[in-house]
Amino acid sequence: MPNVSNIHTLNSIKKHSAENMIEVKNLKKSFGDREVLKGINFSIKKGELYGLLGPNGAGKTTTISILSSLLIADSGEVFIENLNLRTDTNAIKRITGVVPQEIALYNDLTALENLMFWGGIYNVPKQELSQKANELLQLFGLEDRKNDRIKNYSGGMKRRINIAAALLHKPKILFLDEPTVGIDPQSRNLIFEVIEKLHHERITIIYTTHYMEEAERLCDRIGIIDNGEIIAEGTLEELKKNSPVKEIISITFSGMNNDNYKKLRSFRSDIKLTENIVHFYTSDAKTELPKLVSFCNQAGLEFNNIEILKTNVETIFLNLTGKQLRD
Ligand SMILES: Nc1ncnc2c1ncn2[C@@H]1O[C@H](COP(=O)(O)OP(=O)(O)OP(=O)(O)O)[C@@H](O)[C@H]1O
Ligand SMILES: [Mg+2]
Repeated sequence: MPNVSNIHTLNSIKKHSAENMIEVKNLKKSFGDREVLKGINFSIKKGELYGLLGPNGAGKTTTISILSSLLIADSGEVFIENLNLRTDTNAIKRITGVVPQEIALYNDLTALENLMFWGGIYNVPKQELSQKANELLQLFGLEDRKNDRIKNYSGGMKRRINIAAALLHKPKILFLDEPTVGIDPQSRNLIFEVIEKLHHERITIIYTTHYMEEAERLCDRIGIIDNGEIIAEGTLEELKKNSPVKEIISITFSGMNNDNYKKLRSFRSDIKLTENIVHFYTSDAKTELPKLVSFCNQAGLEFNNIEILKTNVETIFLNLTGKQLRD
């Protein structure tokens, strides 16, 4: 006779696709009366590298914190490798590595001591741990600095150890929350190489960032998150193909006020204004631009700069929200 929790697990398995390593359904979270996740949905297949791309405050860390059981969602469901996050929390923790946005290391301990400490938290047997820690120190190019205290490390070196700490128990799934913020290019490249290696080894990865170049370079699929909602999702090609806008004409005006903006809106209503930069969304900038310039000249609107932006994740985001990713 299956007991109640088994029945629960069986139902969970039935309810979602076995193909998916991670399935997130209608996740909601509020802090006080501020709803910061408004129903997040996404699925990730085994071995996929999924990018959660969005500006400050979009809800990336809140999502990752829920997936790593640091926070509890108000509602919604999460399944990780056929396990239900609410009932099988410990089993999920054993197969998941988490790299938090805020570096979580002890400054007075050396890099090796930090790794030994974190490996202990993950219950890695001592001998295996020592071998794995040294292997990871080598992978992250820090073997010769392993006996230095973390307080003497650069930001980029700390980030590398922060990631290494999440890999000690050989997780099948890795959550990386903005792992390259505020670091030098050399550390960033090394981190990219390690992530690409882990991806090659078919570890399932969620990577949050507000850098579109990182999402474009690393991720198989991207979920664009803003204001607690996933507003677009797909491979880079799919996102570009589905975008009605192919190009954006970006004009910086010398003086922008309500009257001038009204004039521009009489030329095209679907424009967006950020300070004194106006964006015109178009499927054909070459044809549109001369008409626009001539309109501005006739209307007496002076501008300093014109740029044509090709569709990329940034312009897709701009079109969907009217905001820059790096607001
Ligand atoms: N513990 C908390 N209490 C109250 N509000 C919170 C808390 N944690 C997050 N928030 C709010 O929830 C929203 C989402 O925050 P979150 O940290 O998930 O964003 P993020 O996408 O990770 O942003 P960033 O790129 O800055 O890291 C923000 O408005 C934030 O102020
Ligand atoms: Mg964050």
